[in-house]
Amino acid sequence: MPATGAAIAVLALSMPAMAQESAAFSLPELGYDYDALEPVIDAQTMELHHSKHHQSFVDNLNNAVEDGTIPADANVEDLVASASEYPTGIRNSAGGHWNHTFFWQIIGPVEEAGEPSDDFAAAIDAVYGSMDEFKAAFEEAGAGRFGSGWVWLVVTDAGELEITTTPNQDNPLMDLAEVQGTPVLGNDVWEHAYYLTYNNRRAEYLSNWWDVVNWDEVSDRYAQALAE
Ligand SMILES: [Fe+2]
Repeated sequence: MPATGAAIAVLALSMPAMAQESAAFSLPELGYDYDALEPVIDAQTMELHHSKHHQSFVDNLNNAVEDGTIPADANVEDLVASASEYPTGIRNSAGGHWNHTFFWQIIGPVEEAGEPSDDFAAAIDAVYGSMDEFKAAFEEAGAGRFGSGWVWLVVTDAGELEITTTPNQDNPLMDLAEVQGTPVLGNDVWEHAYYLTYNNRRAEYLSNWWDVVNWDEVSDRYAQALAE
């Protein structure tokens, strides 16, 4: 019997939802185009970084659900918080998924960068002397992270701001992190984040990167971290 128009409509509507439900983890959409961060971050880097590198972490986690390494109802926050209990592959994939999801949100087009909130700027001044001195310290930490990893500004459990770095896809939310805290700012210093434009000049990438930081988002995250 031929399908009715209504049946076809129902089928068409339900298919994307079914496809989404079948995967426990999914790649988040960016809130901007791949070329929106040029010239600081080139479009090809953004596309590869999001659609290939980040996607691979999502795929690895979904494969781990399929083979039973992690439960189907696992969420990335819990996996990260208990990273020490999982094999390295899960730690890397969960960290990679969390870190990149965070990263896409705290950067954005230059014209939407906003400003640090008064509270956040005052906290930075109190700890580092000025925003410029904070930036210099953050860049130095990022440049000094040997190999691949991340540089972070976190709010510690004591409510203090602290700069730290992590290797690979680790992050300060992990139970095994040397310095633990809630990230409010973080930069990816893997070569895949900058090599096409900056080659081996990581320090130049770190210095230019401030132009695409979304200070409204960072300030919101700072306020939320203090409230936790
Ligand atoms: Fe990355």
